[in-house]
Amino acid sequence: MAQKNTTPKLVIYGCGGHGKVVADIALCRGLAVAGFVDDGAPEGGRVLGLPVLGGAGWLEAHRSEVIVALGIGEKRARHRVHQLCAALGLDPVTLIHPNATVAASARIGAGVVIMAQAVINPDARIGDGAIINSGAVVEHDCEVGAFAHLAPNATLGGAVRIGALAHVGLGASVLPGKAVGPDAMVGAGAVVVTDVPPGVVVVGIPARLHRSSRS
Ligand SMILES: CC(C)(COP(=O)(O)OP(=O)(O)OC[C@H]1O[C@@H](n2cnc3c(N)ncnc32)[C@H](O)[C@@H]1OP(=O)(O)O)[C@@H](O)C(=O)NCCC(=O)NCCS
Repeated sequence: MAQKNTTPKLVIYGCGGHGKVVADIALCRGLAVAGFVDDGAPEGGRVLGLPVLGGAGWLEAHRSEVIVALGIGEKRARHRVHQLCAALGLDPVTLIHPNATVAASARIGAGVVIMAQAVINPDARIGDGAIINSGAVVEHDCEVGAFAHLAPNATLGGAVRIGALAHVGLGASVLPGKAVGPDAMVGAGAVVVTDVPPGVVVVGIPARLHRSSRS
C-alpha cells in the first residue's frame, strides 16, 4: 500500500539576497525546498526557480506541514520572524554549508546559518539566529550572541565575545579576548583592539568610534 509522505517541507522565510543564499545551502545539503515565505514579495512569484508561497498568514495556515529556515539578513526583522516562528510552535532549523568547518565541541543555536568556507573552532558558542557568513572565522572559545552577524571574511581571535544583535563587517577582525557589545557595529575592514561598547559603530585600524548609535 502506498504510504503518504509526511516529511515536512522546508520553507525559507525571506526571499531577498540572504534568503537566496540560505536556500542554496539547503539545496547543497540535499534538502527539498518547497519555496519562500515573504511578507513583501508578491505571492506566486519565483526566486531561484522556487515559488513565493505567501506571507506570515501562509505560514500560520501551513505550520503543521513545514519546517522553516530564517532567510532574512536584517537583524531586527530576523529576530521578529524568529519570535513569530516560536509563537507558531516552529523552531527554525540550523543550516550549515557542506564546505563549512564546524568543530565537534562547538555549540550552535537554533536558526543559525553557517555559510561556505566559514570555520568554527572548538568550544565556540553561536547563539540562536546568528549568521556566520562566507569565509568568516570564529576561533576557539568565542561566544557569538543571538542574532549577531559576522559578515563575509570577518575573523574573531580566540575567546572573543560578540554581543546579541551585533554586526562585524566585511573582512573586519577582532583581536583575541576582546568584546563587541550588544547591538554594536564594526565597520568593514576594521581591526578591533579594545572592547567596543554596546550600540556604537566603530571603523578603522585600530577601530575607533564612528557614530555613537547605529540608527
Ligand atoms: C561603518 C559603516 C556602518 C558606516 O556607514 P555610514 O555611517 O553610513 O558611513 P558613510 O558611508 O556615510 O561614510 C561616512 C564616512 O565614513 C567613512 N567610512 C564608511 N565606512 C567605513 C569603513 N568601514 N572604514 C573606514 N571608513 C569608513 C566614509 O569613507 C566616510 O568618510 P568621509 O566622511 O571622510 O567621506 C559602513 O560603511 C560599513 O562598513 N558597513 C559594514 C557593511 C557590511 O559589512 N555589510 C555586510 C553585508 S553581508
